[in-house]
Amino acid sequence: MTVLQGAGGATSRRAFVAAAGASGLAVALAACGGSDGSSSSRSARSSGDGGGTLGPTSEIPEGGGKIFTDEKVVVTQPRKGEFKAFTSTCTHAGCQVGSVGGGTINCPCHGSKFSIEDGSVKAPPASSALEERKIEVKGGSIRLA
Ligand code: FES
Repeated sequence: MTVLQGAGGATSRRAFVAAAGASGLAVALAACGGSDGSSSSRSARSSGDGGGTLGPTSEIPEGGGKIFTDEKVVVTQPRKGEFKAFTSTCTHAGCQVGSVGGGTINCPCHGSKFSIEDGSVKAPPASSALEERKIEVKGGSIRLA
């Protein structure tokens, strides 16, 4: 009995180590993106045509925006049909901004908020605007210029 239990324990330990190794790898792969739930689209986008296609304009809510964690870009649509893009790296201490809502791009680290229209600071502690990124909107699709 004791011997069998010992063997079973060893097997589970090996399984656990293998599982931990696999999840460690997943964490390492996901670390640069900083998001979860987008792993399936991640590889499709990064191994695409290399032209920096971000996605369809339909993904960007009017009066709001969407954060593209892989590309470290936030795309906004302040007015219908008008798209803007900014770096998603907060100018305060370098966190990735976490959400777009209430007319601002919001950093979860210390609460800075930036305008979806021009990236300017709407709430401290950040003191400088998010840098604008150039994008091209063509055929309903947005790509980095
Ligand atoms: Fe964004 Fe501090 S890093 S508010």
